[in-house]
Amino acid sequence: MSDYKFVFFLLILSSLISSQVSFAINGKEETQETTNGVSYLHIPTRHMNITNDLGEGITLTIHCKSKDDDLGQHDLAFHSSFTWHFKANLFIDNTLFYCYMFWNGVSGSFDVFREGRDKGRCAERCWWSIRTDGAFSLNTYGGWDLMYKW
Ligand SMILES: *[C@@H]1O[C@H](CO)[C@@H](O)[C@H](O)[C@H]1NC(C)=O
Repeated sequence: MSDYKFVFFLLILSSLISSQVSFAINGKEETQETTNGVSYLHIPTRHMNITNDLGEGITLTIHCKSKDDDLGQHDLAFHSSFTWHFKANLFIDNTLFYCYMFWNGVSGSFDVFREGRDKGRCAERCWWSIRTDGAFSLNTYGGWDLMYKW
């Protein structure tokens, strides 16, 4: 194979891998998409989990997307979690999931998984707690770091 054909082949392969995603609300799986002929490769699965910790009676509306996937808009009741998982892109360090969120007239748009920032920091368990003072992310020591203010 010539070099450019090989690069093209890698691009096709990596786009197949990065388009695997499914999500759930409170553990109840809503959709499942798999396109994969390469499951024998070890690619870490990222487990995303975004929890409404805003307070009793406050609904969090959330809309998460990546370049390839639109997970749709969802209302989360207090203490409900929106979860999804995906396989990281094997060849190109560019996976990005971001979420637009709002509650009681307050809104923000946050990067919830960015390969360069998060592949070590929240490698497999990428959990977020959404609170009135901002968006907190679970660190590898089990504590919550404030990542974004509203
Ligand atoms: C999501 O995170 C919350 C803590 O913020 C936890 O209680 C819940 O069990 C997690 N859900 C899943 C499916 O891992």
